[in-house]
Amino acid sequence: MKNLKDKKILLIICGGVAAYKSLETIRILKKCGCEIKSILTSNAKKFVTPLSVASLSRGKVYDDLFNVENESEMDHIALSRWADLILVEPATANTISKLAKGSSEDLASTVILASNKPIFLVPAMNVRMWEHPSMKENLEILKTYSYKIIGPEIGEMACGEYGEGKMTEPLDIVNTINDYLFLINKNNRLKALVTAGPTHEYIDPVRFITNKSSGKQGYELAKSLSRNGFQTTLISGPTNLKVDDEIKLIKVETAEQMFKETQKNLPVDVAIFSAAVADFKVFEKSDIKIKKEDKLTIKLEKNVDILNYVSNHNSMRPKLVIGFAAETNNLENNAEKKLKNKNCDMIIANDVSDKNIGFDSDFNEVTIFYKNNKQEKLSSKNKMLISEEIVERINNQLT
Ligand code: CTP
Repeated sequence: MKNLKDKKILLIICGGVAAYKSLETIRILKKCGCEIKSILTSNAKKFVTPLSVASLSRGKVYDDLFNVENESEMDHIALSRWADLILVEPATANTISKLAKGSSEDLASTVILASNKPIFLVPAMNVRMWEHPSMKENLEILKTYSYKIIGPEIGEMACGEYGEGKMTEPLDIVNTINDYLFLINKNNRLKALVTAGPTHEYIDPVRFITNKSSGKQGYELAKSLSRNGFQTTLISGPTNLKVDDEIKLIKVETAEQMFKETQKNLPVDVAIFSAAVADFKVFEKSDIKIKKEDKLTIKLEKNVDILNYVSNHNSMRPKLVIGFAAETNNLENNAEKKLKNKNCDMIIANDVSDKNIGFDSDFNEVTIFYKNNKQEKLSSKNKMLISEEIVERINNQLT
């Protein structure tokens, strides 16, 4: 498990019977060469002692948000920045509920709220608690915060009942983290480019032709690629959306500018064309504001098809080229045509006749059309979660 060597792990131990297993996790992580600091919630201390955690981890153990000694040495912000990764084990029903609400009432929840690092939760609880609708809702929320959930497994629990809720074994937890770090390391060497948002095609200095695209799906895809380790460039038409500094954001207005920036940023390994690029631009744009008259005729000419240009490039075609197809009718036919005509590896098609999903909505429902005639429907969900699922498929295609 060489991907764990020299990694800084912040282990948060919560108060559940499975807490004793965190000692075994510490032992394995130490064997892999990790540096560990730990936080024990007040209930965790009823199951394991700070002394045993400190001895095994050979690292500092924290427990109190307002401990003067801790705050002067390393405050909750510094602690969350120190870590490469945060592991919450066991993640109890109470902790999961607190995290879903964004609570910051103790050191553990405050550090997680303040963190910009990957967070892994390892739930452990009674089967009824795990199956409770409130737990399902909380987990859905946590997934939209991009927290990763390991397990739980089916088995006999400490309370004697049988079912889903048993904590994943320490070795499997460490293996999952190692696999994740392997993927990130691999993707770190790869470049991704995403186009997003609408374009503005000017008629005169103050008027333009545009469309309803919000850019949300493209921005979520860029964020998801970046979280998965890709060096990501986002070329965006006008939107009010933001991304973190890890993503190279290039703002453009017209299709022509989007095309030029795309050319400048090649070659890449993966390219996703989610922008709703205007098919036409104004043939002769007026340099001065057009005055009102009885009739106005605007002549349009075709814009370059950016996706087509990239997917048919002789020397710089990315390994994976992914296009979008927003359709109001004949979705399957149109998507399959675009897949072939535009020489794509995948087309992500959505039906934009439904006003509650797609354009300008936070939700999307898409069908992925693959080159080998396979198709796969991703059911309606938040655009962030759709992006995670698409990037998962990209990861699979790149292996
Ligand atoms: N696209 C592009 N450059 C253009 C037009 C489209 O890169 N000038 C990309 C879009 O980003 C999308 C895909 O091509 O990934 C399909 O876009 P769409 O507008 O649905 O397809 P068109 O080929 O324009 O077909 P139509 O509008 O007739 O459906």
